[in-house]
Amino acid sequence: MNINNTTVLITGGGSGIGLALAIALLKENAKVIICGRNQQKLDNAQLQVPELNLIQCDVVDETQVDNMIETVHSKFQGIDILINNAGIFQGYNVQNQNLPFNKIQQELAIDLEAPILLAAKFLPELLKKPEAAIVNVSSGLAYIPLTSHPVYCAAKAGLHSFTLSLRRQLKGTSVKVFELLAPLMDTELVSEVKMSGKVPPEKVAAYTVKCLKNNTYQIRPGMTKALYLMSRLAPGFMEGQVNKG
Ligand SMILES: NC(=O)c1ccc[n+]([C@@H]2O[C@H](COP(=O)([O-])OP(=O)(O)OC[C@H]3O[C@@H](n4cnc5c(N)ncnc54)[C@H](OP(=O)(O)O)[C@@H]3O)[C@@H](O)[C@H]2O)c1
Repeated sequence: MNINNTTVLITGGGSGIGLALAIALLKENAKVIICGRNQQKLDNAQLQVPELNLIQCDVVDETQVDNMIETVHSKFQGIDILINNAGIFQGYNVQNQNLPFNKIQQELAIDLEAPILLAAKFLPELLKKPEAAIVNVSSGLAYIPLTSHPVYCAAKAGLHSFTLSLRRQLKGTSVKVFELLAPLMDTELVSEVKMSGKVPPEKVAAYTVKCLKNNTYQIRPGMTKALYLMSRLAPGFMEGQVNKG
């Protein structure tokens, strides 16, 4: 798809892969709006990249989302590309007698419900554009769960499934549906994961932009490609490998 001169909204664009995508898209001459809950994080991103446009918004708060959509219309004449990137990553042991139900609900709301609702809310305007896109950021863990993070992996598998349905339902319209099944990257989200091989988010962002430009809808950078293939060929073996140690 053409990125030049488009307006892109990236949820959770103040850090990590969201910020790396923002920088990569600015280089393609897109106008980029980022949102997040923490204003300080957004301001820091703008200090680093002054061309960024900021909107403080918690994507699970419907009033804040509606205000953001209003601002996007009044200030930027709408968007062409929605990148559903905001996410959190929490570990639970299901045998814990005091499972934190509110944290589980929050994780499902951010990682699964919000991208679905944002897609639904932006769809009417995206359908009016000559070319538009929704990019959902899921994970290689949508294929094989890291069982220490069961809710996160369930949410990403759910987002993967929703993305496939969305793409098929929008076939023949102007709205393209992409999915970035991100590999393990060097970001704040996984700072406590002590695994080697974390990929710089800038590298994943560059690859993603290339895939957007050549209409590669399922974006599987680095290890995700191997995880995808192996999850088809030897799922039990791969589940053991991913959860070793
Ligand atoms: N890092 C990895 O290895 C990896 C692998 C696969 C997939 N991913 C996915 O990549 C995406 C981005 O994560 P990251 O790795 O770049 O980590 P990150 O730096 O922690 O980015 C997550 C961003 O989401 C924002 N966010 C969280 N909850 C939000 C909410 N309710 N409303 C609005 N913004 C919210 C955060 O900002 P605030 O806290 O200011 O709201 C933050 O900027 C996530 O969807 C994640 O699941 C990451």
